[in-house]
Amino acid sequence: MLTKKYITELKYRGNGDIAKLVQAQRDVGTIVFILESLGQLPSDFHADFLYSLLSHNHAQVRLNAVKNIGKLNEKSDTKPLLALYQHESDTSVKREIVSSIGRQRKCINKPILYNFLNDEDPKIVCQAIRGLLVFENDKEVAEHLKPLVNHKNEMVRTVIYKEYFAKEKTKKDSLPHAETYDFLKNVVVNADVLEALKYVPDESVHLTFTSPPYYNARDYSIYPSYQVYLEFLDKVFQETHRITKEGRFLIVNTSPIIIPRVSRSHSSKRYGIPFDLHPYLVKNGWEFIDDIVWLKPEASVKNRIGGFMQHRKPLGYKPNSVTEYLMVYRKQTEKLLDWNIRSYDYKTVEESKVADGYETTNIWKIDPCFDKVHSAIFPVELCKRVIQYYSYKGDLIFDPFGGSGTVGRTAKSLDRLFFLTEQEPKYFEYMQSKQKDSQLFKDRKTNFFTLDEFKNAIR
Ligand SMILES: C[S@@+](CC[C@H](N)C(=O)[O-])C[C@H]1O[C@@H](n2cnc3c(N)ncnc32)[C@H](O)[C@@H]1O
Repeated sequence: MLTKKYITELKYRGNGDIAKLVQAQRDVGTIVFILESLGQLPSDFHADFLYSLLSHNHAQVRLNAVKNIGKLNEKSDTKPLLALYQHESDTSVKREIVSSIGRQRKCINKPILYNFLNDEDPKIVCQAIRGLLVFENDKEVAEHLKPLVNHKNEMVRTVIYKEYFAKEKTKKDSLPHAETYDFLKNVVVNADVLEALKYVPDESVHLTFTSPPYYNARDYSIYPSYQVYLEFLDKVFQETHRITKEGRFLIVNTSPIIIPRVSRSHSSKRYGIPFDLHPYLVKNGWEFIDDIVWLKPEASVKNRIGGFMQHRKPLGYKPNSVTEYLMVYRKQTEKLLDWNIRSYDYKTVEESKVADGYETTNIWKIDPCFDKVHSAIFPVELCKRVIQYYSYKGDLIFDPFGGSGTVGRTAKSLDRLFFLTEQEPKYFEYMQSKQKDSQLFKDRKTNFFTLDEFKNAIR
């Protein structure tokens, strides 16, 4: 049986034994296995057989031949690759050809790579860009690449923007990434979030975790229409974007809701809040990262399947909704997560590391919480996970829809700071009463402000 070890041995013999081995094979799988096992190629490698394989009728073989030709670097011959590109129908092979030519790093290939920039396949364009970017500080290359900042494909635009147009945006007077303003630390403001945020500076919070009102499904807020509701959330998350530090996260807990029917001659109406909200968030510079599903026990949710259980008639199927979404977004940036992490000192990074037992999937099984005063509070376990996975110790955690203050109390228990807004006086007072009961709220001072008091605290 052919092994990688044997193939490596033949490769280093250097007298064309690999070519003979490939030529003796009838089975495509074995040829591909040999080609995939070649690894680095020695300088005296007999590569002619690779060029013959460019006309093989199996795309996997052609792809691996092109890949290996790429490893010959400046010794590889561009002409047969270009000839194959002209009539190749397999897109992976075409991309590999561009990558192979790029890897040669030959100035003479620049015009060929410029040509690939006009290809319809954005992945080919990206490969060509990659091949061209090795010519650092080359004016001619820059002239060809810069116009692609207006390319129709978003990946292409992002690469070019980052390479040529992104400037250090950090303002001189803004705070270091890991820090925030004292007047926002452990503060709850009893006000409409949009009013309170007028006084919050740009780039001051590290993480937002929130559960917005469920349109008109609960009693605490009423909107004249669904469109008005979505536009309100749009504004809140635009403002949240402004006050969020570069590259940091927003996690929004929502779920589709149901508004009961007006009478028996009408049907009830479902609203897909997470799906309708998503386009607004993306439009405003929130990059979609993940969807986490919060799974509740069936016994804890409203029974919708009862009718169907009786009649069993198709179309009348209404499953019990045991899930809510945690939609995870990141404030768009050219910086990698590493940049965010490097903003913290060694001790903070070590102390914030997530302990064993963390959730490994995007399905989080957590029991919901019921409360005598507030009808929609977060379970502490849900807050704990979000705060531990998406923030560092000492970070400022924001909840625009504070409710009973679960995000604040949990943030505090995890050595984070918090800033909450809550419009309803009864929930604001409830939070204050919880502060008295709770050990966690007691040991460090929390400021409960009216809007005017908050304005004064800033001055
Ligand atoms: C789903 S609840 C949040 C519950 C919270 N996660 C908790 O654990 O208690 C939404 C909250 O947003 C509040 N709210 C609604 N509109 C608001 C606004 N414009 N500004 C501030 N709070 C608002 C409601 O009063 C309600 O308490």
